[in-house]
Amino acid sequence: MTMELVHAGKVRELYEAGDDKLVMVASDRISAFDVILEEPIPDKGRVLTAMTIYWLDLLADVAPSHLISADPADLPSEAASIAGAAGLAGIAGRAMLVRKAEMLPLECIVRGYLVGSGWAEYEKAGTLHGMSLPKGLKQAARLPEPLFTPSTKATEGHDENISYDDAVDLVGKETAERAREICVEAYRRAAHAAEQHGIIVADTKFELGFIDGKLSLCDEVLTPDSSRFWPADQWEEGTNPPSFDKQPVRDWLANTGWDKKPPPPALPAAVVTETSERYVTAYERISGRALADWYGPNT
Ligand SMILES: Nc1ncnc2c1ncn2[C@@H]1O[C@H](COP(=O)(O)OP(=O)(O)O)[C@@H](O)[C@H]1O
Ligand SMILES: [Mg+2]
Repeated sequence: MTMELVHAGKVRELYEAGDDKLVMVASDRISAFDVILEEPIPDKGRVLTAMTIYWLDLLADVAPSHLISADPADLPSEAASIAGAAGLAGIAGRAMLVRKAEMLPLECIVRGYLVGSGWAEYEKAGTLHGMSLPKGLKQAARLPEPLFTPSTKATEGHDENISYDDAVDLVGKETAERAREICVEAYRRAAHAAEQHGIIVADTKFELGFIDGKLSLCDEVLTPDSSRFWPADQWEEGTNPPSFDKQPVRDWLANTGWDKKPPPPALPAAVVTETSERYVTAYERISGRALADWYGPNT
């Protein structure tokens, strides 16, 4: 028996698993400058999955989540077909069984620092998603408090930053308020926990959905793909601090003079290895857990 593929994203695949359940499989694919590179990053899918589980444990009392289990033994038997001949071992550690949710049409971003598209808007207009901010902030400045800065979920092209009022128009006042409350609290806790391990969570994107009428944390949670992690000792205002995980890839690509349009140049093996090590280190430092103890084959 094969499973029906319901969504193939840039990094993950979703399969129908009956009774309002899904199997979500994180691949080892990596994107840089919004382009998927050819070379997989060993262990990246396991890191994304293990990290999500770590945070969902820590945030369990902030909001319910879609997670049923990441234990390969709990996956439906048909899931063995997903990775072909490799069977269940081929997806162990990268797959989660989840409840299907009615997803909000929002990317629920929380920013603790002024960087990326937030910095671009502030530099131009002095605002952040339309909110006024103190004058004179530099790039990568820590915001006075973490802010809920949603964006649309574009099915094609880039997501668009919107104001809180726009989010209210999209999902209603009550839901927008609850989403803001969940996300800001989740960010606060996560940023505080990561800071103890020398890592700054500059910003992160949550995706929320309704399960049994309750707004729940879905998708991936506080992973390197959905967040900006910075080594705390390399954070400097007025700069664009290095990313804890993707920097070797970004730096190498920037040096090639690539125009950021597909096809991307092939990553050298050394860059692939270094990036894989960075992902694993990010997980191990943040969670205090060893990736070797997580499900699936250690590469
Ligand atoms: N519990 C859930 N129920 C339904 N859809 C979900 C759930 N959790 C996450 N999703 C959706 O699954 C998709 C995950 O695939 P992903 O590879 O991240 O795709 P993308 O490239 O579109 O971000 C996203 O569209 C996300 O909104
Ligand atoms: Mg996604």
